[in-house]
Amino acid sequence: SHRIMLGPLVAAIDQGTSSTRFLVFNSKTAELLSHHQVEIKQSFPKEGWVEEDPKEILQSVYECMERTCEKLTQLNIDISNIKAIGVTNQRETTLVWDKETGEPLYNAIVWLDLRTQSTVERLINKTPGRNKNHLKHKTGLPISTYFSAVKLRWLMDNVAEVHEAVVSHRAMFGTVDSWLIWCLTGGKSGGVHCTDVTNASRTMLFNIHTMDWDPELCKYFGIPMEILPRVRSSSEIYGLMVTKSLHSLKSGALSGIPISGCLGDQSAALVGQMCFQDGQAKNTYGTGCFLLRNTGAKPVMSDHGLLTTVAYKLGRDKPACYALEGSVAIAGAVVRWLQDNLGIIGSSEELEKLAASVGTSYGCYFVPAFSGLYAPYWEPSARGIICGLTQFTNKNHVAFAALEAVCFQTREILDAMNQDSGIPLTQLQVDGGMTSNRLLMQLQADILCIPVVKPSMPETTALGAAMAAGAAEGVSVWSLSPEDLSEVTSEKFEPQINPEESEFRYARWKKAVQKSMNWET
Ligand code: G3P
Repeated sequence: SHRIMLGPLVAAIDQGTSSTRFLVFNSKTAELLSHHQVEIKQSFPKEGWVEEDPKEILQSVYECMERTCEKLTQLNIDISNIKAIGVTNQRETTLVWDKETGEPLYNAIVWLDLRTQSTVERLINKTPGRNKNHLKHKTGLPISTYFSAVKLRWLMDNVAEVHEAVVSHRAMFGTVDSWLIWCLTGGKSGGVHCTDVTNASRTMLFNIHTMDWDPELCKYFGIPMEILPRVRSSSEIYGLMVTKSLHSLKSGALSGIPISGCLGDQSAALVGQMCFQDGQAKNTYGTGCFLLRNTGAKPVMSDHGLLTTVAYKLGRDKPACYALEGSVAIAGAVVRWLQDNLGIIGSSEELEKLAASVGTSYGCYFVPAFSGLYAPYWEPSARGIICGLTQFTNKNHVAFAALEAVCFQTREILDAMNQDSGIPLTQLQVDGGMTSNRLLMQLQADILCIPVVKPSMPETTALGAAMAAGAAEGVSVWSLSPEDLSEVTSEKFEPQINPEESEFRYARWKKAVQKSMNWET
C-alpha cells in the first residue's frame, strides 16, 4: 500500500502575501502528499497603505493545519509520521506584539506598503551625496520603503500602544516567521522569539557580513535591540509545537513536533529548486516576482540595482550562502487588481483566456508601479500607467499588456543580473502560482529570448522549507542531496518569436517605464 513506500514526513507552513498554505511532503521522494490553502485579506486603509491582520494570519495557519491533517487521515496516512515542520514566509512584513498579553499591537505592515515614503526621502536626503545606497555596504540593500526598519520606526512613532510597549520592555518585533514561530511554540507562555538569517537580512538592521544585528544600524533607525528576535540559521530546531495554543486543532496530533526550518519565501524557493551552486538562479511569480541568483559564500554587490541578500545558512555550523536578487513589487498583484479594482476579469484563468483571445496588446503598455518601482530603479515616486491606447484598444489588450508587464519586469532584472555577473543565464528556472498560466510562460520565453523551465511540482517554496526542516540536526530525515530529486520532471517553454520583435516591444516598454517615473514631481 501507499503507507509502505512512505518515508518520514515533513511539513511546511508557507505564509505568503496573498495566501497561507500547509503542505506535507514525503521526505523519501519529495512528493507532495497533501495540502490546504486559505486566502489572506489585505486592507488598504489609506492610499499606498497595505496591512494584514496578524491574528488572521495565525488563524489561517491553524486552519490549513487542521484541514491538511484531515486530508491525510482520509488518505490513511498517519499524522504521527510528520517529523518536522518548516516555516517560510512573505518577507519584510513588520509586526509588533506584547509579550505579556500575546496581543499584536497593530496590524502587520505589508512589505508593499508606501506610508514610509516621506521618511525614506528624508533619510536619503540626509546622506552624503543623497545616496540611497548609503547603507548598502552593510545591508546589501538601498534605503527604501520595502524593508522592515522604516516600518518599525513608523510604528514606534505613530502607534501609542507600540511606543508604550517599547518603553515598558514588553514589545517584541518580528517578521511573519518570528510571529508564527513565537505563537506556535507557546506564545506568551514560553514562545521562542527568533528569526533566521534570510529574514533578518531583509530588515535593514542586519549586517550581512557579521551575520548579526548591527548596533550602528539600530542606532541609525532608533530601534532598541532588545525588541529584536534572536537570529538563528535556516535549519536547526527552534522549538517544539505546543498544541494547546492550537485553538482549532483538536487532535493535538502536531504537538511536540520540532519547528526546525525557517527561510524567507524567496530563499526557500531557491533551496526548493536545488539552486545550491554558485551561478544557479530561479524566478518566483507570486504577489511580486523575485529572481535570485546564488553567488556562493561571497556577498556580491550589484552595480545594476539588484539587492545582495542572504540566500540560506542550512545549519548552525554551515557556511552562509548569498544571492543577488532582482525584486519586482507587482506581478500576481496586477491580476488581483484587474479583478478587484477594475472588475474586468472574474478570475486569473479568465485573464489568460482574454489575453489569449487577442494574442497581442496592440501597442498598449501597462506599467503596474502601484508601490513605486523596485529593481532595478528603486523609485518610490513612480506610479502605474496604461498607455498607447487607441479607439481600437479593448479589455483583452489591457489583459495581455498586464501579463506582458510581468515578463518585461523580469527581463529588466534578468538583464541586470547578467550585467552584474558577466555570465548570462542560458535558461530561466521558474516557479510560483502564476507559472500555471501557460500563455505567460510562453510570453516570458519570447521576451527573454531564452527557454523558461518550470518544475512539474509547483510548490518549490514549501519544498525548500520542508527540506531545511527535515535536514536539521536532531531531525535528520532529509539529506540535502540533489540525487533525492533526480526524478523531478519539468516543462520547457522555448522562445517562438524572433529577437527583433522582442527587442522592439521591450524598447517600447522601457519608454513606458520612463513615463511612469517621477510622477509626483
Ligand atoms: O519580499 C516579499 C516576498 O517575500 C513576497 O513574496 O510570494 O508573497 O509575493 P510573495
